[in-house]
Amino acid sequence: MKIEVNQISKSLGGMHTLDEVSLNLNQGEFVVLIGPSGCGKSTLFNIIAGLIEPDQGSISIDGQDWTGKTGRISYMQQKDLLLPSRNILDNVSIPLVLKGMSKKAAREQAVAFLKDFGLEGFGNYYPRQLSGGMRQRAALLRTYLQASDILLLDEPFAALDAISRRSMQIWLKELSARYTASVLFITHDIEESLLLADRIYLFTARPARVKMEIDLQNKDYDQMERLQLKEEILVILEEENRTQD
Ligand SMILES: Nc1ncnc2c1ncn2[C@@H]1O[C@H](COP(=O)(O)OP(=O)(O)O)[C@@H](O)[C@H]1O
Ligand SMILES: [Mg+2]
Repeated sequence: MKIEVNQISKSLGGMHTLDEVSLNLNQGEFVVLIGPSGCGKSTLFNIIAGLIEPDQGSISIDGQDWTGKTGRISYMQQKDLLLPSRNILDNVSIPLVLKGMSKKAAREQAVAFLKDFGLEGFGNYYPRQLSGGMRQRAALLRTYLQASDILLLDEPFAALDAISRRSMQIWLKELSARYTASVLFITHDIEESLLLADRIYLFTARPARVKMEIDLQNKDYDQMERLQLKEEILVILEEENRTQD
């Protein structure tokens, strides 16, 4: 088990945000968290990453307690942006430099990944010179170079247009299989969750609780069943959206 989230509860600003959330991520798995906007998904990621402490519950990673401790996982936050004044290679090298590597060595290590991330030849470009999809791939590479086998990705494609989003999803799925990373991925896009996930956790409106777990890995859904599943998730999310605020 890579990550075990045990009975996490959290209030923020007097508002009950997470209610006894338990979930897990297995080695090499791609797990998607989907839930109404504002339900507490990013808060849960901040807790898993150790950036905020839960009121109750614990986070264990590789069987060890990591509650309230940072530094074990690679985390791409919802509003993660590239630094406009640095070129792509220097942007993606930041985590390596922060770990104490020289700029030159960091660039040398990072440059080898540009091809896999669809950025070959763009190392010297500045973020503003790239498309939205390329900027997101650069942000993903920077996250990957934090060098953990566990990645938390918070709605990385939400700002992209439908067509680039689709190609990014396909690219990410191939990449994560090739790199055998274990990934937790937040979205509010049902299509995205069905395309990417080995498993899905569906959350209620705030306070977020796990409403449903869907295993797509160990069951072959045919096209009809996938449509039914999509419909079922949609109905639940609409219902949850209505109960929120
Ligand atoms: N630092 C904070 N202080 C108070 N309330 C917060 C804070 N961060 C988030 N919230 C509130 O907590 C709820 C959950 O937020 P968030 O985890 O960002 O939801 P999601 O990612 O599912 O959209 C929201 O209602 C948000 O307004
Ligand atoms: Mg969020």
